[in-house]
Amino acid sequence: MTGRLSGKVAVITGGASGIGLAASELFVSEGAKVVVADISDEAGEKLQARCEGSLVFQHTDVTEEGDIAAVVETAVREFGKLDVMYNNAGGSPDVHNLFELGSAAFDKTIALNTRAVVMGHKHAGLQFRKQGTGGSIVTTVSAAGMQGNAGEAAYAIAKHGVVGIIQQAVHEFGPHGIRSNGISPGTILTPLIGRTFGVAEDRIKDFNDFLDERSASWSPMRRLGRPIDIAEAALWFASDASTWVTGTVLPVDGGQTSAFGGRKFADIVIEAAEEFAKK
Ligand SMILES: NC(=O)c1ccc[n+]([C@@H]2O[C@H](COP(=O)([O-])OP(=O)(O)OC[C@H]3O[C@@H](n4cnc5c(N)ncnc54)[C@H](O)[C@@H]3O)[C@@H](O)[C@H]2O)c1
Repeated sequence: MTGRLSGKVAVITGGASGIGLAASELFVSEGAKVVVADISDEAGEKLQARCEGSLVFQHTDVTEEGDIAAVVETAVREFGKLDVMYNNAGGSPDVHNLFELGSAAFDKTIALNTRAVVMGHKHAGLQFRKQGTGGSIVTTVSAAGMQGNAGEAAYAIAKHGVVGIIQQAVHEFGPHGIRSNGISPGTILTPLIGRTFGVAEDRIKDFNDFLDERSASWSPMRRLGRPIDIAEAALWFASDASTWVTGTVLPVDGGQTSAFGGRKFADIVIEAAEEFAKK
């Protein structure tokens, strides 16, 4: 199928890698004009060159409110309007349990995963209201936003906050025709997991293969997720196929949360990272 986002303009944060990269490429292939907002300049510039005319990369640190406002302005300047804001950038810069959690590390995790999503809602919301068109806001949450996550306190708390933002947006943005929905991915094979556990960049692919092999037999669908699995859900939320849907968080996790409350997979990831480090 093609053209599901024909005529739409989207901003995708964290669009230069993993889930965001898959979404950027899928959105373009479905007819959207896309502005990718990421701190990863090299990957962003390569992506812009590959999708010339349909995608613009802008260096954006989502922990800076001014950068988020600026990327919305770029979408309007380059492509005339904004229809979709995909708040996808995130990560786990601090892997500590609640006993060990420090204020500075906590603030950093909240700034990246929660405050950035608040500001993404605010600046996209202001633009949609000004246009009078409504719009769709999509956010990558996490299974860690639906329950505690062993050993990763700040990330779990930050992602729970995202669910709150989506609920708040229903009330304040709904009357303006603005929708807000989240996607809760299970374990997706991107560079993020390896980076979270300190795997060297040149070993990330090997780590993902190792993790995939270790986890597949536990997964209800007998595989881990791929970035495209999440990108397809984001596309649906972004498109006019979902105009009556707002305030939801959709698990896209191959049944991981349903089968084990997601916890089994957090354990598998931690064990695999420890074992891989010894290899
Ligand atoms: N991979 C998983 O298993 C998984 C599971 C649940 C949720 N998630 C969530 O999915 C989202 C995407 O993660 P991914 O797995 O694709 O990771 P990834 O590391 O492949 O991609 C994340 C992207 O975000 C960018 N980024 C990081 N900090 C940024 C900042 N301050 N400003 C702008 N861009 C920034 C990175 O440069 C990178 O391009 C995150 O919100 C993550 O929490 C991932």
